[in-house]
Amino acid sequence: MAKPKVTVVGAGFVGATTAQRLVEKEIADVVLIDVVEGLAQGKALDMMESAPIEGFKTKITGTNNYTDTQNSDVVVITAGLARKPGMSRDDLLFKNAEIVGGIVTECAKHSPKAIMVVVTNPLDVMVYLAWKKSGFDNRRVFGMAGELDSARYAYFISEAAGCFPHEVQAMVLGGHGDEMVPVEQATTVKGKPITQILKKEQIEIINQRTRDGGAEIVKYLKTGSAFYAPSSSVVRMVRSILEDRNEVIASCVYVNGPYGLKDIYCGVPAKLGRKGVTEVVELELTPQQAAALKTSAEHVLENCNKLSL
Ligand code: LAC
Repeated sequence: MAKPKVTVVGAGFVGATTAQRLVEKEIADVVLIDVVEGLAQGKALDMMESAPIEGFKTKITGTNNYTDTQNSDVVVITAGLARKPGMSRDDLLFKNAEIVGGIVTECAKHSPKAIMVVVTNPLDVMVYLAWKKSGFDNRRVFGMAGELDSARYAYFISEAAGCFPHEVQAMVLGGHGDEMVPVEQATTVKGKPITQILKKEQIEIINQRTRDGGAEIVKYLKTGSAFYAPSSSVVRMVRSILEDRNEVIASCVYVNGPYGLKDIYCGVPAKLGRKGVTEVVELELTPQQAAALKTSAEHVLENCNKLSL
């Protein structure tokens, strides 16, 4: 049976690692595309040469030409500049808007029925831009951020609680920036709320480390940002979409009504399936969390307005 087709735009660390996870897990055949001559082709060939050892039957091809991306089921956009130490995600706004705008137009033209998953920063604004530029229904355009932030939160909690990372269920909402909102009451260790397991001060420290999670990696790497956990997060989303699992995954989706938010892209839990976003899940928030979510959404809106789309 033919596998679904996923285009990954950008053959840098996030794009290439996403492509690798997708083919190794046999989730889809992948087209990896980049503007740099030979980069996607070289990485794709290298991955195919690992197939006899890894045993995957899916295919990956590399290209510089959008014609090869034709009729993709999902398009993942990772291209753009990454942060350097000391830079905020917002510092990337105008340059990445130009890059992502051009990519979205090409992808929408060649794969008019695709679902777009945006990864480029500043994430929430790039998703909004992709929605506007593609002309797609908002349910088919969303971004990866909340799953990554939640995974970081879960990992830090597992360290503090002394359990395995997968035994933590974590939820982080809001924009993918300094104002993200960890939801303690929706975060559990082996089914128990973390508020029963960790001290308030410990949770506060972990909340802040989660907000700074991306910057912590940038500080170590110096010349780029994280890619292992980001690619895992994208792949979970893509699998839920292609296998129509409708898993609840914190994602940057279009919200108009839930959480008191109007006409904005923001990080909230959403069910992802073959039709894209099938439901925005509304959690009960504390008044502080609701206010923080609103502030985070307003910040996203301010940046969207800067692009005058
Ligand atoms: C991070 C960047 C990619 O959070 O936003 O690692």
